[in-house]
Amino acid sequence: METATAPRRVERHETDKGYVPVYTTAVVEQPWDSYSADDHATWSTLYQRQRELLEGRACDEFLKAQDEMGMSAHMIPRFDQLNEVLGAATGWTLVGVEGLLPELDFFDHLANRRFPVTWWIRRPDQIDYIAEPDMFHDLFGHVPLLMNPVFADYMAAYGRGGVKAHAIGPDALQNLTRLYWYTVEFGLINTPDGLRIYGAGIVSSKGESLYSLESDAPNRIGFDLERIMRTRYRIDTFQKTYFVIDSFEQLMQATDPDFTPIYAALEQQTHLPAGDVQDFDHVFHKGTGEGWAEGGDV
Ligand code: PHE
Ligand code: FE
Repeated sequence: METATAPRRVERHETDKGYVPVYTTAVVEQPWDSYSADDHATWSTLYQRQRELLEGRACDEFLKAQDEMGMSAHMIPRFDQLNEVLGAATGWTLVGVEGLLPELDFFDHLANRRFPVTWWIRRPDQIDYIAEPDMFHDLFGHVPLLMNPVFADYMAAYGRGGVKAHAIGPDALQNLTRLYWYTVEFGLINTPDGLRIYGAGIVSSKGESLYSLESDAPNRIGFDLERIMRTRYRIDTFQKTYFVIDSFEQLMQATDPDFTPIYAALEQQTHLPAGDVQDFDHVFHKGTGEGWAEGGDV
């Protein structure tokens, strides 16, 4: 099938040994004219499918922001056009990248309100699953909430916190990464109409959009900063536990204190398996654990 003519980073990653991440630092211009008809069709298919699924499942802020930014199923959006709307709303700018960045580069971008977006989109045969982030995950999943002033501030604060954690050491960085994972990537939010999704890793996945809200298997537990920073997670299966915030303001307030003493205190604490419920948890739903893989928490 015909795909874009520019080099496709995704193909360099698929070796016999599976997914091998390669980290690059360069910021690239979005090569919009190089997208093929197949690339646009992949965007359209995914956009249409997820939007339909996410009505009543994603939080209103997310859905509203996609419309306000002018994202649609019609074609792959142009980063420069989105930037006009996004810049005016919250001062964030999208920058094109080849893929995953080294941690410190990533934190530095966020701290300066630049969100790195992978410029290429998955191939048609990868519609349902791709191991690494592509444009659909980054743009459809992460970018809309950057239109929300509170969430926009949270992401920038996270970037500054990342620079700090990086200087403190690997344990601090691991604690902070878990927070990102269980909020920015896999967070749920409690609303008067019920639980809704805001995590980018969920909204960009058909299977996990349904599973995170409707399956009896996973735990759904109230947001608790230190609990989250102790909890291992899954990178190869749906999550065993989702954490539920009450509001973006709660997230902002809970993460406002200096984490330095928290990181120090956490060094004395054990790490928690991804699927375990603790007796101090505020449990929305205790998972049945049905279909869970043994081991494999990171
Ligand atoms: N308050 C955190 C610190 O001092 C920074 C942070 C803010 C981290 C928001 C995550 C999210 O390190
Ligand atoms: Fe992501």
